[in-house]
Amino acid sequence: MPRSAFGVKVIFVQGIRLPNSPTASGWPKLPVAPPREGPPFARHHFSLEKRRVFAMKKIVITGASRGLGRALALEFARGGHAVAGCARSQAALDKLAAKTGPQGRFAVVDVCDPQSVEHWASELRDQWGVPDLLINNAAVINTNGPLWEAAVDEFSRVIDVNIKGVFHSIRAFAPAMIARRSGVIVNLSSGWGRSTSPDVAVYCASKWAIEGLTRALAQELPAGMAAVPLNPGIIDTDMLRSCFGSNASAYPSPQAWGISAARFLLGLEERHNGQPLTVPSAVE
Ligand SMILES: NC(=O)c1ccc[n+]([C@@H]2O[C@H](COP(=O)([O-])OP(=O)(O)OC[C@H]3O[C@@H](n4cnc5c(N)ncnc54)[C@H](OP(=O)(O)O)[C@@H]3O)[C@@H](O)[C@H]2O)c1
Repeated sequence: MPRSAFGVKVIFVQGIRLPNSPTASGWPKLPVAPPREGPPFARHHFSLEKRRVFAMKKIVITGASRGLGRALALEFARGGHAVAGCARSQAALDKLAAKTGPQGRFAVVDVCDPQSVEHWASELRDQWGVPDLLINNAAVINTNGPLWEAAVDEFSRVIDVNIKGVFHSIRAFAPAMIARRSGVIVNLSSGWGRSTSPDVAVYCASKWAIEGLTRALAQELPAGMAAVPLNPGIIDTDMLRSCFGSNASAYPSPQAWGISAARFLLGLEERHNGQPLTVPSAVE
């Protein structure tokens, strides 16, 4: 059934150096303080705990209750980062919070509602801080079928979540990041943001919009920041199952994807600004 599996044109990104690439133990490489002047006993390297705090990032993820967003939240929390996530399902977020422990904080927020997103962002700003990494992941896909059969309400729903939801999040979180002149904004695109297939025209329209929106945003950001449209690859989530049915099981689980995707995301920095990227693990 899958025709061109999520626009399966996978793009290798050449020459990306991941500063936080994993060590043998699976932890990101952490900065070590330079040796000080003086006798050997006075030379000081940060303790492991201090180094972790030093490398710890604040990461916001929309759509954290299931699929890729949940896998990323778990992986980032496991790596010692602070994660704030949202979705509509309280029950799923409660279960996630029980797994992340204090590293994670989650709120019921519908990204279609600009007031709700703004309220969430200002609460986080006051109580938690400004994100180093904002991942606009929440999205929906249309029921498979030709464009002329799509219901008017469904077209609006896909546009509201996939495009306007991303806009609401950027509008709420980006000003504080811009004021600080640091941070990375990642907007989840898709293979279907760079190619097309029949029966998913509405979704394709939304993800092509994300590519354009993100690249224009990249041109607006100050030095020190980056905005990246990201194709995650093809992963066995609820969304994929809605298109591929049981054939989705041929693709990696969100958990497996999350391990390499989290490392990849932690390595994004200013020099990636405006580049349409693909998570390397997508190629299996
Ligand atoms: N899976 C793939 O192979 C694949 C391929 C290409 C691109 N992508 C992209 O990757 C991202 C994640 O996809 P996925 O496969 O993980 O999808 P998924 O399993 O369907 O999960 C979607 C997430 O978005 C949340 N969400 C949906 N509407 C929302 C709203 N109005 N407000 C807040 N949260 C909302 C959902 O939570 P609630 O329902 O609880 O709100 C859920 O946590 C999407 O941007 C998707 O387009 C995925």
